[in-house]
Amino acid sequence: MRLEGRVAIVTGAGQGIGRQTAMTFAREGAQVVVADIISESGTKVAAEINAAGGKAVFTSVDVTKEESVNDAVKQVVAQFGRIDILVNNAGVLRDARLVKMSDADFDFVINVNMKGVFHFTRAVAPIMIEQGSGVILNASSVVALYGNFGQSSYVASKSGIIGMTKVWARELGPKGIRVNAVAPGFIQTAMLAAVPEKVLAMMRQKTPLRRLDSPQDIASAYLFLASDEASTSRPKWHKRSCLQSFSLMRPLERFGHRPIEIFHEGQHFVP
Ligand SMILES: NC(=O)c1ccc[n+]([C@@H]2O[C@H](COP(=O)([O-])OP(=O)(O)OC[C@H]3O[C@@H](n4cnc5c(N)ncnc54)[C@H](O)[C@@H]3O)[C@@H](O)[C@H]2O)c1
Repeated sequence: MRLEGRVAIVTGAGQGIGRQTAMTFAREGAQVVVADIISESGTKVAAEINAAGGKAVFTSVDVTKEESVNDAVKQVVAQFGRIDILVNNAGVLRDARLVKMSDADFDFVINVNMKGVFHFTRAVAPIMIEQGSGVILNASSVVALYGNFGQSSYVASKSGIIGMTKVWARELGPKGIRVNAVAPGFIQTAMLAAVPEKVLAMMRQKTPLRRLDSPQDIASAYLFLASDEASTSRPKWHKRSCLQSFSLMRPLERFGHRPIEIFHEGQHFVP
């Protein structure tokens, strides 16, 4: 098992990519902390993991609130004594064209997607620094690299995540902490519920495999980055700080590249 004995917090793990990541980490032996603002779905995910023989607890948290995040992190340390992996996955969408986007919607998206990542990483970093080890993985998006119609707030937040990832890779790397961002393409989750079918069809056409990816595709990328496999080769921080979506990278697998080489292709897309 690739994460045996590790303690992992996954934010926004009540559904979608976060849920799949929590389940994947638990299957690989991690003690998982399912952290979400919605207690009902978070509790259910933790129960599913435990029923399948894994180890999980639910922690109620609102990533936009500093106190809520600090309390959650203190609780985890009190219960498990350490934090090995943090996946900053919680995220929201409030799309509208520039001229129609309200301050309230803009601030809401920035607060959850960007400030939430800042809150959690700031709370967890001192613990990892003291341990001399840790992995921090941040959910960005391909739209941070290309832009996307109607997504001023979302693209700003996901671009900010790439920037913060590069800063933290520099600040925390020397302390034994790996920091990476994953930039998924369009993934089939509830987040896409509001996206019109014709836009989804267009996105499918743009990917080499002509399909949207699944939450497991991204969970597998997080698993790789969280595991020791990702630390055996040590390319410079900027080559690993942002990974391109599997939806674009997967065709390369067919030509026999190993995952690390597939990820390295991503560096061409780092802004
Ligand atoms: N689905 C996609 O196509 C896609 C593409 C690129 C990036 N992403 C990113 O991946 C991440 C997960 O996406 P998803 O599609 O699984 O989303 P989702 O909407 O299915 O799940 C998001 C989870 O975050 C939780 N959450 C929201 N606000 C929160 C808060 N304030 N505090 C704590 N938890 C909160 C929700 O309750 C939910 O469980 C997001 O950051 C998203 O931006 C998704």
